[in-house]
Amino acid sequence: MSIEIVRTVADLRVRLGDWKCSARTIGLVPTMGSLHDGHLSLVRRSLAATGRTCLTLFVNPGQFGAGEDLAAYPRDEAADVALAEAEGAHLVFAPTADDMYPEGFATQVAVPGLGDMLEGEHRPGFFIGVATVVAKLLVQALPECAFFGDKDYQQLLVIRRLVIDLDIPVAIEGCPIVREPDGLALASRNAYLTADERRRAPALYQAISGVAKDITGGADVARACAGATKALLEAGFSAVDYVTVRDAETLKPVSDASRPARVLAAAQLGKARLIDNVAV
Ligand code: PAJ
Repeated sequence: MSIEIVRTVADLRVRLGDWKCSARTIGLVPTMGSLHDGHLSLVRRSLAATGRTCLTLFVNPGQFGAGEDLAAYPRDEAADVALAEAEGAHLVFAPTADDMYPEGFATQVAVPGLGDMLEGEHRPGFFIGVATVVAKLLVQALPECAFFGDKDYQQLLVIRRLVIDLDIPVAIEGCPIVREPDGLALASRNAYLTADERRRAPALYQAISGVAKDITGGADVARACAGATKALLEAGFSAVDYVTVRDAETLKPVSDASRPARVLAAAQLGKARLIDNVAV
């Protein structure tokens, strides 16, 4: 059976309603397309855990700031649909911007605190855009479970917070980061890297892994992060937005590894802004 593509919220509700009537549990995998094995790992988790898997493809204009890469963001719907189908997903929801944000659209979902720091600080409005579209997708599909990658660790925490606060009855599952053999986390924006930058890119994972190892061994957190920043600049990154160690649940700064923590980093390499994180 070939995969179905649905483009409107009304059609999505009809199709998912059929599945709910036949007692299938639904798994939702929200993406902006340009699918890679990181996205497909979420599809596999959903297929294993639920009866029907719906992948969403929507390059959400609401989460791109002025001067960011909305126009350049890689798009290839036919390739994405073929990958989703080969993986065994049951349905692709690929709405238009007009269907998601019709004339008069005004509501925004903000998650102050968690959404203001780190990525929220460096990309103002980013998490309002993410939280708004994810809240919409969850309410549109009302899946039993939705799958998100640890790759965007802060995003995952923002989404966990919003489903609790808005009483959206969905289980949010965080899934492990899929990496290239040299450690680089898979990301659609890796496509922006030149061959030379691609060779330098694993320095990000090496730097944050080094911080995790050093602070587990008792090293000073600030010194470890400063060392990682220096290493990234030496490796050819043009700017380091942050290398930081945060509490794994609240993302508040921590000064030692006595509680579960996460090393998070964002840095610019050529045209690509790369983010990554590791558990401590
Ligand atoms: P996108 O960047 O396309 O990512 C979609 C999902 O794939 C996210 O949950 C992300 O964390 C996960 N993902 C990306 N790379 C991964 C990797 N290497 N390993 C594991 N998971 C990975 O994140 C977004 O889109 C958007 O913000 C979205 C949530 C769809 C809202 O527009």
